[in-house]
Amino acid sequence: MTPSSASSSADAAIRARIEQWVRPEIRALNAYHVPPAAGLIKLDAMENPYRWPPAVVEAWLETLRNVALNRYPDPGADALKRELRAFFRVPRGMELLLGNGSDELLQIIALAVAAPGRVALAPQPAFSMYRMISIFTGLDFVGVPLSAADFALDREAMLAEIERRRPALVLLDFPNNPTGGLFEAETVRAVIEKAPGLVVVDEAYQAFSEMTLMDWLHDYPNLLVLRTLSKMGLAGLRLGMLAGRREWIEELDKIRLPYNINVLTQASAAFALRHRAMLEEQAARIRADREILVAALRACRGLAVYPSRANFILFRAPAGRGGEIFTGLRERGVLIKNLDGAGDTLRDCLRVTVGTPEENQAFLTALAAVL
Ligand SMILES: Cc1ncc(COP(=O)(O)O)c(C=O)c1O
Repeated sequence: MTPSSASSSADAAIRARIEQWVRPEIRALNAYHVPPAAGLIKLDAMENPYRWPPAVVEAWLETLRNVALNRYPDPGADALKRELRAFFRVPRGMELLLGNGSDELLQIIALAVAAPGRVALAPQPAFSMYRMISIFTGLDFVGVPLSAADFALDREAMLAEIERRRPALVLLDFPNNPTGGLFEAETVRAVIEKAPGLVVVDEAYQAFSEMTLMDWLHDYPNLLVLRTLSKMGLAGLRLGMLAGRREWIEELDKIRLPYNINVLTQASAAFALRHRAMLEEQAARIRADREILVAALRACRGLAVYPSRANFILFRAPAGRGGEIFTGLRERGVLIKNLDGAGDTLRDCLRVTVGTPEENQAFLTALAAVL
């Protein structure tokens, strides 16, 4: 056997084993794709563009000096939870579960309720991990289209599908990614009241929407509220927070792997949360720059620009030009998110994250050149 025929028969053997053992629904998935961004202005991932002032960085480094890397982290992250409770004004009596990003918390929730034939339901489009996590934890995923005209939550369709499919889990991103819109609170209430299982309201973009349903936790025993530090300038730390009734949190905590929040994240997040004014000032700047960017996009001929309560803006390019505009921007050094191809409702749609004023201007200049 030649070396190349030996390696191709090894390849065939691996493929056969994969087909035999990896579940078909996993084989059918595509891994979450993060495009290379080296050398580009990165406006594709809803990151906060701001670092901390040098004095704050110095104080942070000083705190890290005392972190014991040789020890496992505090398994309950109690000190960090105290800071989170105060920072996010978690209603009295509610418990917290922390995750390695809110992604991990979504996975924990799905794992807790998944069983053959059970359903997770979310509007479509929505954060792409809702579908991925549902599928790989073994839930059947049901997507309910948002209203085509304005990407509103379709109350009748949501209630009808909940009635028909009896989902174990309903996932609502509030505001929605990728549209940026904030669903009408009363429609969300109707969904929570109708749902036979858990409803997760994912407030990843709360710093920019300035709207929360956290206070509803007392009213609805099937509600959980999800937050993340990722959009507040701490995406690199990976910290998500789930708030809800003690009974739910105790069940979910059984699935959490021990020590899922590492010592550096615990110390750094607790430090950051003590700098409320700095974090709020960054968020306020992003909200103000979002309005400037929306106005500038609305002034561009041929673009449909959707209202945003998040730190990104969805817009639709002239028919058939979405892909070409995305590529033209990248060639000019600006990376945004191309949603053209992510289903009919998002045809020709592009999503830009609000960056610094200089980054936003570079994006607008490049856009003017490609339009
Ligand atoms: C709605 C929504 N939820 C959760 C996440 C994931 O956040 P994290 O970085 O906390 O995993 C995202 C990320 O884009 C998101 O858009």
